[in-house]
Amino acid sequence: PKLAVFASGTGSNLAALLKAAKAGTLGGDIVRVVVDRKKAGAIAIAEAANVPLLQIRYPAFASREEAEQEIVKTLQADGVTGILLAGYMRILTPYIVQAFEQRILNIHPALLPSFPGNNAIEDAWHAGVKVTGVTIHYVDTGVDSGQIIAQTPVLISEDETIDELTERIHDAEHQLYPDTVAKLIKEGAFQA
Ligand code: GRF
Repeated sequence: PKLAVFASGTGSNLAALLKAAKAGTLGGDIVRVVVDRKKAGAIAIAEAANVPLLQIRYPAFASREEAEQEIVKTLQADGVTGILLAGYMRILTPYIVQAFEQRILNIHPALLPSFPGNNAIEDAWHAGVKVTGVTIHYVDTGVDSGQIIAQTPVLISEDETIDELTERIHDAEHQLYPDTVAKLIKEGAFQA
């Protein structure tokens, strides 16, 4: 299947997914990267990998839905049948969620349903939990609320800093996302 990755941030998960695609272990091709921020690190990563980029400027559209219509038009022309959110900082509307029903995944740096939202690693740290981790889930129109597909636990040790924990969570992400996508594709996911 042909996949698109949506990223607003540094793009390390995009890089991990591209690496697996290039190695042939993902089982699908990443044919489009969608970015909504001018400064996203994901832009340079997509360019270095020669993957076509759609830079979408939400403020230029009357609504989120109209911006998504533009995105969906591009993805349909690309033949994309699956969307992987990787640090995309926008909530999707029912328009795109329905157009790609059960074919949009997200990665979240905590064990959902604990610690949804933008500060999951810090929130888990400050809550004093001893185990946090990474979740891959289907995307619905809520915040980090879709059906859970896979999780990796990350133990928080007594003597580590939040930066060390953050790094270990990102390492777990870079393993779990490509592995989960590969497993789903083997099971027949993302068919048109
Ligand atoms: C990741 O921690 C992901 O779980 C969260 O946003 C972050 C994106 O990081 N949704 P990167 O841009 O992939 O490096």
